[in-house]
Amino acid sequence: MPVKDRAQLDYAHLPFAYLKTDANVRYTWRAGAWDGGVETDSETLPLHMAATALHYGQAVFEGLKAYEARDGRVLCFRVAENAKRMIRSAEMLLMQAPPVELFCSAVVRAVRANQRFIPPYGSGASLYIRPLLIGSGPRIGVGPADEYLFLVLVTPVGPYFKQGFAPTRLVVEEEIDRAAPLGVGSAKAAGNYAAGMRGTVKAKRAGYGEALYLDAREHKYVDELGAANFFGITRDRAYVTPDSPSVLASVTNMSLRTLAARLGYRVELRPVAAQELRDFVEAGACGTAAVITPIESVTMRGATTVYLKDGRPGPCCTELYRALTAVQLGEAPDDDGWTEEIAL
Ligand code: PLP
Ligand code: COI
Repeated sequence: MPVKDRAQLDYAHLPFAYLKTDANVRYTWRAGAWDGGVETDSETLPLHMAATALHYGQAVFEGLKAYEARDGRVLCFRVAENAKRMIRSAEMLLMQAPPVELFCSAVVRAVRANQRFIPPYGSGASLYIRPLLIGSGPRIGVGPADEYLFLVLVTPVGPYFKQGFAPTRLVVEEEIDRAAPLGVGSAKAAGNYAAGMRGTVKAKRAGYGEALYLDAREHKYVDELGAANFFGITRDRAYVTPDSPSVLASVTNMSLRTLAARLGYRVELRPVAAQELRDFVEAGACGTAAVITPIESVTMRGATTVYLKDGRPGPCCTELYRALTAVQLGEAPDDDGWTEEIAL
């Protein structure tokens, strides 16, 4: 069934920002079990002032998107992978995670309840889905909560980086670490984003689109951006992306590695020395919000490597972007069963 009574918005020019929709869904874990959840139009939470999320950072989240396909179907990309990652994140912060089935059904419920905000096919916008898990139980001594809130909100969004599929400039951040190798950088923990804010703001003030972080142990290897993974393309057609314990395991990157291999790239998941940044012929930022954002240049210690001279995305980023979005929008055969139709 196609989307009915779509909300009248300027979908082609939506920012990546929160916009109130009709409902969010909320589940509570208490006394060893998840409840059946409720749908509400409230945008606020009745939260205990001593909740562990507020004091001790027990907060993890996810991000995924639903798209309208050309034939009107609504498709969601690799939902179960996000569910599994939330479980991994929760384990690292000693939190209670929703099981995969609960996570997936909550996503469907939230999308259905807000179907009039699903952007139309071809608008370049999508419905961003933000599952959030927080320790809601009170604790003053440091320790895990005994009550958790799992919430899914959705909001229609445009591209994360201002220009969409247009190149952005990065600066390597060497004075601020985002995540430690034995810390929780591989979790989608709220605190990691707080840790990255200084770097991002500093980069933006200096006229760049984002900061590129290095590994915190040696400051020798590339980690990732504040809100996306990094990949580089070599002269001899290798897709190279950092293997690092402090990088978030991106569902987009994982999918791109599969697609790149199919397109004939050699795929290398390995430590990437910052020195190698000079050698790539193209580079990109990838993630749910970023999709693929081609990297125009990377500046490190005042030296800039320019990947794209005419301000246009390079052929490899373009090819990979097309391959990925074709599957997400249901325009290419979904051989791997990555998309899930949400029946409205
Ligand atoms: N790295 C960080 C720090 C992110 O916030 C994101 C966004 O989710 C990604 C990478 C990309 O991950 P995914 O492709 O699963 O969205
Ligand atoms: C995503 O790509 O879903 C993210 O989580 C990035 C976000 C922090 C804006």
